[in-house]
Amino acid sequence: MIDLRSDTVTQPTQEMRWAMSEAPLGDDVFGEDPTINRLEEYVAELLGKEAALYAPSGTMTNQIGVFVNTARGDEVLLHEGAHVFIFEAGGPALLSGVQVRTLPGEGGRISRETLRGAVRPKDVHFPRSRLLCLENTHNTAGGRVYPLEDFASVASEARELGLKVHLDGARLFNAQAATGIPAREWCEHADTVSVCSSKGLGAPVGSLLAGDAETIGEARRARKAFGGGMRQAGVIAAGSLYAFEHHVERLAEDHERAKKLADGLRGAGYGVAPPETNIVLVEVAEPARFLEVLAREGVLATPMTGGTVRFCTHLDVRDEEVEAAIEAASRVTADALEPRG
Ligand SMILES: Cc1ncc(COP(=O)(O)O)c(C=O)c1O
Repeated sequence: MIDLRSDTVTQPTQEMRWAMSEAPLGDDVFGEDPTINRLEEYVAELLGKEAALYAPSGTMTNQIGVFVNTARGDEVLLHEGAHVFIFEAGGPALLSGVQVRTLPGEGGRISRETLRGAVRPKDVHFPRSRLLCLENTHNTAGGRVYPLEDFASVASEARELGLKVHLDGARLFNAQAATGIPAREWCEHADTVSVCSSKGLGAPVGSLLAGDAETIGEARRARKAFGGGMRQAGVIAAGSLYAFEHHVERLAEDHERAKKLADGLRGAGYGVAPPETNIVLVEVAEPARFLEVLAREGVLATPMTGGTVRFCTHLDVRDEEVEAAIEAASRVTADALEPRG
């Protein structure tokens, strides 16, 4: 099977496994795991923040980000396609007691004007607008980069309006690879930032939340309350550290392959938006039927919002697999467009 469903499906490389097997370990709830301490320092430095906190998943680091920036009854503003809103099982309501308000915007972006129009006046009737969540790259928008200028603009508007800013940077290093702009430049405009090692960077587990030392201290407490305090977890964190040290540069290869895949699928007659990073969104008449037929041809992709399917390139996809996927999709075109029967 050629698995293009997600960049989360990768296997750890042999070198990563060695790094994991040799990692020095301690009890991280006591702050004594040397590998986790090194990883947290490394990522804080990389993102230009005072401190960082290791957690099992990007969902957890996003949800801790929401928790530390809000109080019960507050309102969180985010894009209608945001991962925090759609794919995190209602976490903001469940874990932080906040309500979310979704905003429209092209390509996962929110304009200053849209934000300004949505923030509630200070009045006893209204929830307090407290936090803006932004996502870069934007998953449901097809891996689109949030242009730095637009990001800085909406974030400065948020600050003027008295809001905090959280960045869901699950694929922030894809934005860096696509533009050459260091990830930390986006982070300057956010109070808290979540980054994942288990997406394009290829680690089996692990995300980090970065911010100022006081906020990350609070986040450490929240992680314990959410059940994410782990003990000798350096054994998995070593995979994350290896990924940040060795797999950031190579993300550009995934982007090249995504472009090849998009060109090939377009050549085979599909409607495909030009990819900016490692995600290719393809329009098909019947997504479920298409995916079923494509799977029989040995290729896996995943349904997305809005009648598209998502193909994602990653560490375990080589040029040969891209070519084979294009051939498989070419074979199913006619079949997938025919009505079921
Ligand atoms: C944009 C975005 N944010 C957050 C997450 C959550 O990460 P995890 O699966 O580690 O909880 C994902 C996962 O795919 C994602 O795509």
